[in-house]
Amino acid sequence: MSLVIPKPAEWPTDELEPFELELFGEGPERRYRRMRPEVEAMPWDDFDASVYEEDVLLMARGAWTRAAFQEHRTAAATLLSLRAMVEARAPLDLIGFATRFPQDELVHVELCARMAGALGGGTNILHRPQELIRDPLSSLSPLMRAADIVVRLYCVGEAVSIPLLRGAWHAAKHPLPKAILGTIVRDEAAHGTFGFWFLDWALPLLSPGERAELANSAERAIAPIEQLWHEIAQGAAPQPDSEAHPLGWMHSDTYLEMAHAAMQSQVLTPLRDRAIPVRSL
Ligand SMILES: [Fe+2]
Ligand SMILES: [Fe+2]
Repeated sequence: MSLVIPKPAEWPTDELEPFELELFGEGPERRYRRMRPEVEAMPWDDFDASVYEEDVLLMARGAWTRAAFQEHRTAAATLLSLRAMVEARAPLDLIGFATRFPQDELVHVELCARMAGALGGGTNILHRPQELIRDPLSSLSPLMRAADIVVRLYCVGEAVSIPLLRGAWHAAKHPLPKAILGTIVRDEAAHGTFGFWFLDWALPLLSPGERAELANSAERAIAPIEQLWHEIAQGAAPQPDSEAHPLGWMHSDTYLEMAHAAMQSQVLTPLRDRAIPVRSL
């Protein structure tokens, strides 16, 4: 859940579509529930939104809706990565393991969207569905196309999010967001390490020039994340104390400290250890 949301204000409004979701129900829902029983097992009925102030509810509804949208974008990215890895004829066990990830992300979408619903309903997000995720360049080789999306999605986005999600899980006080974040943290641990497994297979097949190209891929994914953190550092309103907040948000300074440390330890160091010369941004 780590990709940065594009700013709708930059787009022509006539191309934007609302981010709204639905369930089909009946057989598909029953089968999906059997595959992922943890969604219905959450303590949904224990949550009483009426005990919170209106401004806290609005902030929390916005945060969980944005989280649902991020998970939705990540679902698209995991699917793109699967196709690229199949085309690159990556090892079957690597690809087979990663086939679980799109379903994980859809479960996360539902969890976040239902949490927003429990708080009073989702907030408005407009987006361009065809731009959820940037395709690797078609001029690249199949292996480099797969490596490009794997580095951007897993080695940067997913890897940096693991400690941040764990931090949010620790900060959450109410059992419902705590249970939701616990499920997401458990799934994301596998997503965050997957990219480096892929690289350990792919890198011996790549030239030094191609490794340098992967450093560019990483930097393209890091730049918008750093930009978002810069904006939080510049203008973020003081966060409510986690004790008083249904989401258990971390204070901005705690979050940013953890974020920069995560970028260093989970992303930059493991990439450089694999001779991918990513620069500090
Ligand atoms: Fe996720
Ligand atoms: Fe993920």
